Amino acid sequence: MTRAATESTRDRTAERLLRSSANKFYDPEIDIDWDAPLVEGKHYLPEERSSLYGTPLWDRLTPEQRIELGKHEIASIATNGIWFEVLLMQMLLKEVYNSDPTTGFAQYALTEIADECRHSTMFARFSERVGCPHYGPVAWRKRLGKLLNVLAYGPAMYGSILVAEEILDRLQREQMNDPDIQPLVRMVNRIHVLEEARHVTFAREEVKRRMSTLRGPERAYQQWLIAVVSNEITHSLINPAVYKAVGIRPRDGQRAAEANPYWQETIRYTGERIMGFLDEVGLVGKPGMPWWRRSFLLAR
Ligand SMILES: [Fe+2]
Ligand SMILES: [Fe+2]
Repeated sequence: MTRAATESTRDRTAERLLRSSANKFYDPEIDIDWDAPLVEGKHYLPEERSSLYGTPLWDRLTPEQRIELGKHEIASIATNGIWFEVLLMQMLLKEVYNSDPTTGFAQYALTEIADECRHSTMFARFSERVGCPHYGPVAWRKRLGKLLNVLAYGPAMYGSILVAEEILDRLQREQMNDPDIQPLVRMVNRIHVLEEARHVTFAREEVKRRMSTLRGPERAYQQWLIAVVSNEITHSLINPAVYKAVGIRPRDGQRAAEANPYWQETIRYTGERIMGFLDEVGLVGKPGMPWWRRSFLLAR
């Protein structure tokens, strides 16, 4: 495809996504009833999605403690979601900075930033509403995140965005209609799933477009980078401090979760769809294999 043809497909997709954004978007400030009481005895996270499910530590928890742990885990996932989204917004702003703002591409990028702004506010408010502290990533990982803006470009940049978005999407999709889950969690998840579908379309097209322009060593760098970032994403989801809420030492909880085959399977499940795509476009390659294996995104 010529450069002009590529540009026009890109803008056509952007125009379509802009129309969809105008028709279908939520304002969590208005669309969520933040004052509704939380439902006593209802889960925040399905038990089998808890990082400790099936471990000896889990067996020692009372039913109430299991609900409590799930609440802290989902708050950790939501606040790490904010971390991913803030990094994503920075990357998209950089794209806008370097683009012609009259193009559909730049305008859709701005619209996506606006979506993510609302999502991050929603996740923050959610965490506050359920009474959890701010978890987010552990301090060293948060510092490491600052490097991403310098190191990431090209298909691995959009690919990393997709890994974060699709992992969350898979978890949220499963829970948004589950009657055993707190209504507030279901609503937050539903809003996020609906709006993320556009982001996924946008990023997948960018990945494909940018893969086609790569040459030799650059391809290896992109394969390495996305694996390293994805490994950090999966390991950041549960901040070990959550275990304190149920009297488990963070180090013990983290060790048990890392070795927990059920948790590893949960991660693999959440990454199933995106890994298929990344493999198909050629982003899963030898330079990244040790990190892919550590991330639990690949079946061992
Ligand atoms: Fe989002
Ligand atoms: Fe997104």
